[in-house]
Amino acid sequence: MMSTLLDVENLWVRFPSRNGVFDAVRGVSFTLGRERLGIVGESGSGKSMTGRAILRLIRSPGIVEADQISLDGTDLMKLSEKDMRAVRGQRISMVMQDPKFSLNPVMTIGDQIIEAYRLHSAASKAQAYAKSVEMLEAVSIRNPERVMRAYPHEMSGGMGQRIMIAMMLIPNPEILIADEPTSALDVSVQRQVLSIMDKLVKDRGMGLIFISHDLNLVADFCDRVLIMYAGRIVEVCDADKLHDAKHPYTRGLLNSLPRLDVPRDRLDVLERDPEWSVALSVSARV
Ligand SMILES: Nc1ncnc2c1ncn2[C@@H]1O[C@H](COP(=O)(O)OP(=O)(O)O)[C@@H](O)[C@H]1O
Ligand SMILES: [Mg+2]
Repeated sequence: MMSTLLDVENLWVRFPSRNGVFDAVRGVSFTLGRERLGIVGESGSGKSMTGRAILRLIRSPGIVEADQISLDGTDLMKLSEKDMRAVRGQRISMVMQDPKFSLNPVMTIGDQIIEAYRLHSAASKAQAYAKSVEMLEAVSIRNPERVMRAYPHEMSGGMGQRIMIAMMLIPNPEILIADEPTSALDVSVQRQVLSIMDKLVKDRGMGLIFISHDLNLVADFCDRVLIMYAGRIVEVCDADKLHDAKHPYTRGLLNSLPRLDVPRDRLDVLERDPEWSVALSVSARV
């Protein structure tokens, strides 16, 4: 059995408000090995909050609770904010859903990548520059020197996403959390980005949490898949068995996908059983 990099047990993300507490993530448990773990589910099901909670990147008033979030034996829940900063971007990197909010608009791309890199390594500026160009090339950016001189607003969404991926991979993290990393990209670039991440999992033994609403993509690209609904994991399965999934929600998601080989006037509307949102979260710890 593969070694466990991350062990998340009974994770909750709660948002207190005047009208009570809204639980965005409700008792989610899973492990991550040196594998590509997909998290799928419709918009609002708690995928992003799960990813962000691991890095304690939930904004106030949100609260993270968990029995443990163990990174190679260290419980991240017990770390100080200072120690947590050292984990972020060095041991666990996250590519956010919207890269525009992650890049500094008044700094060139090059200065940002170099700064991020030197924060975690003793490299000289020249070494950091060379490494940055190399990583931009690795994410299929054709004119890396020009991109290094550019500002974020000069980049398309797809470019921004690839720059973020390059930036996140430079410190050689043990785990990459990629939140809808390819949704802004066209199909050919999407494949390139997936193959870059694939290579990192295989060559460096990285663990990847791949968040997506695209079931077909996850079925093709991942090893194992968690299906989330209303803040809970309703089903876990091997990615190549996704099309045999049993939970009616997963079946509904699969059936509501447009298929080229079965033309339909309109997509099936998912019938929701209230039972799905009260049932306990399925454990995906192995
Ligand atoms: N600041 C907040 N206050 C209250 N609820 C929030 C806040 N941020 C996110 N949520 C809620 O948390 C739920 C899960 O969100 P999210 O994890 O972003 O979903 P997903 O990534 O699966 O689309 C959503 O219902 C969202 O409305
Ligand atoms: Mg999201």
